[in-house]
Amino acid sequence: MGEYVLRTKELSKKYEGVYAIENINVEIKQGQIYGLIGLNGAGKSTFMRAVAGLIALSSGEVELFGKSTAKALRHGRERIGQSIETPAVYPAMTAEQNLEIQRKIGKVADKKTSQETLELVGLGDTEKKKVKDFSLGMRQRLALAIALITKPEFLILDEPVNGLDPLGIIEIRELIRRLAQEQGLTFLVSSHLLDELAQVATHYGIIDKGRLVKQISQEELAYESRQYIKITTDDSRKAALLIKEKLGETEIKETAKNELCVYGHTEKTGKINTLLVTNGVTVENISVFQQRLEDYFVNLTESRK
Ligand SMILES: Nc1ncnc2c1ncn2[C@@H]1O[C@H](COP(=O)(O)OP(=O)(O)OP(=O)(O)O)[C@@H](O)[C@H]1O
Ligand SMILES: [Mg+2]
Repeated sequence: MGEYVLRTKELSKKYEGVYAIENINVEIKQGQIYGLIGLNGAGKSTFMRAVAGLIALSSGEVELFGKSTAKALRHGRERIGQSIETPAVYPAMTAEQNLEIQRKIGKVADKKTSQETLELVGLGDTEKKKVKDFSLGMRQRLALAIALITKPEFLILDEPVNGLDPLGIIEIRELIRRLAQEQGLTFLVSSHLLDELAQVATHYGIIDKGRLVKQISQEELAYESRQYIKITTDDSRKAALLIKEKLGETEIKETAKNELCVYGHTEKTGKINTLLVTNGVTVENISVFQQRLEDYFVNLTESRK
């Protein structure tokens, strides 16, 4: 554990002189699930294509499994499975027949692999059904199976839950979690929004207009999205002292002239109110808030207007 599967350094790609992605630095360690989150046209697919070697870079560097020479990248890319480009599926064939073709292309010797992979993604019982009769969710699973057939160590999945119903999303999420936990697979997964899929990520990168605007780990996010009590009074200092005395070790921030934020202890909002009032502090407002990752998007969309 702890080895870098992917590191990009100032990765940029321009189309007709315009940056699709600009100076992106991302580091992903083995076993991590990195959620790349951004709106339409933010640069998610371009970044993934650049990492997978499907497009040439304009500038910057990709390092895979600790190496960045051309030869090492070729080998590294053999250890990647991806669903960025829609794989060539044969609509008149079954899922198993399609996977058999992919197995042979991928030079995977073990014949059992196709059926095992289908079972893994929940397509084990599709039997004679042709791919042209598959639902969108089944097609998404087939794309995932194709990405998995060569038993890759690093999976790059571009919006793998696009078009799935909530149950389908949960199933793909569980599958990703299981593969990461049980087999140590590493994931780079893109998503439009903080949908059900994003919940599986251990790390998040938020991309906007080709730039990585925020990176945050699941733990940091949990920390940042703690609930807090915002209190507006006529005497912040006195209020802070009273609360500290009562609650002991507590994080309190003075966020504005007459405004305090108390982290945690949100169940004690009523008690804090009484405490302040009985000690002569005028409480104008006291309420519970929570910072959410969605809020970063609100900022992004507002800055776009
Ligand atoms: N082949 C191309 N030629 C010209 N411009 C391109 C090309 N591919 C992408 N772009 C541009 O690069 C930018 C980023 O596109 P990209 O497809 O990476 O975004 P995305 O985040 O994957 O969006 P979506 O959520 O719609 O899939 C967009 O402005 C897009 O128009
Ligand atoms: Mg895309």
